[in-house]
Amino acid sequence: MADNPRAKVAVLVSGTGTNMAALLYASRLPGAAYEIVLVASNDPEAGALALARAESIPTFALSHRGMTRADHDAAMDAAIRYAGATHVALAGYMRILGDEMARKWEGWMLNIHPSLLPLYPGLDTHSRAIAAGDTHGGASVHLVIPELDAGEVLGQVRVAIGADDTPDTLARRVKIAEHQLYPRVLSEYVSRGYDADYLLERVAALALALPGTERTTSHGSPAFKLAGKSGKFFAHFSDRHHGVPHIAVLAKTSGQEELAQLCERDPATFYKPAYYGASGWVGIVLNRADVDWSQVEYWLERSWRSVAPKRLAATQPGREPEAY
Ligand code: GRF
Repeated sequence: MADNPRAKVAVLVSGTGTNMAALLYASRLPGAAYEIVLVASNDPEAGALALARAESIPTFALSHRGMTRADHDAAMDAAIRYAGATHVALAGYMRILGDEMARKWEGWMLNIHPSLLPLYPGLDTHSRAIAAGDTHGGASVHLVIPELDAGEVLGQVRVAIGADDTPDTLARRVKIAEHQLYPRVLSEYVSRGYDADYLLERVAALALALPGTERTTSHGSPAFKLAGKSGKFFAHFSDRHHGVPHIAVLAKTSGQEELAQLCERDPATFYKPAYYGASGWVGIVLNRADVDWSQVEYWLERSWRSVAPKRLAATQPGREPEAY
C-alpha cells in the first residue's frame, strides 16, 4: 500500500474538528493512504481551522451568511479543486450540501455520522437512541449522496449504552469511537482502487452483466467467457503478471493495428500484455487513481460482442465508441 500514490483529501468542518484531528494524525503515520491537502469551513471561527493552521495545513473559510446554498457550495467546490483534492471528508460540516454539489462528488465524498445508520439520520442522535431504549449507539462512515445521511455505509462501530448514560456521556464515547473509525474507513476506501480483489469484483460485475457469460479461470487467473463448454473467452484479469506493475483487465481489440494505436494514444491506460498481446488483446490498467469505469465497460462489451453469437449480440444495444 505504501507504494501507491496517496489520495489527496479535503476535510470540511464547522466545529472543533476532533475528527479532522484524528484524520490528520492518522495521515502522518508511516504508510498512510491519504494526505490532507485542505481544511475548509463555513465558519471562519471554527476551532478546526486554528488547529489546521498550526499543523501547516492549507485552510479556506467562507461564511455562508448572505449566500445562497448553491453559491456557497460552488465556492467550497472551487477551493477543494484548487487544493488538488481527489476526495472530500465531511467531519462535522453543519451545512447541508445542495444536490448539485453532492452529485459532483458522488463516490468521492464521505461523511461521519454519530449513529448506527440507517437509524437516526439528522440531529440529536444520542438522545433518540437513549429514548428508544437501544442497547447500543455508535457511529457510521458513509458515502454522501443528495439524500441526507443516506449513502452507502462503508463502516460502523457500535458503542454500548449504559443505564446511567445521558446524551452527553454517550456522545463523548461515540466521539472516541469515531476517531478510530474514520481514519480506518477513509484509508480503506481510498486504497481499494489498488486492491486486486476489489478491482476483480468490479470487473466481474460488469462482465457478468453481459448476456450469456460465466466466470472461470484460465492459466490460474480469473477470466470471463461465454457460458458453455466451448464458450469463447472475452476478458482476462491480470494481477501484476510477468513483471508488469499493472492490475488489468484484458479485452480483445480488432487486431494489432488498433492495439498499437491505443497504446500510443494513451499509454497510462493501455498496454500490450505478454502472450495475449500477440493475438490482439489489450491490457487496460485498473490500479490507478482515475480509472474510467465506463471505458472498461465499453471494452468488455466490445470484446464480448466480438465472440458472442449474432443472436445474443443483437440483444445488447451497441455503444458509442468515439471516446474510447
Ligand atoms: C461528530 O459527532 C460527527 O459524527 C458529526 O459531527 C461531529 C463533529 O465533531 N457529523 P468534531 O468537530 O469532529 O469533534
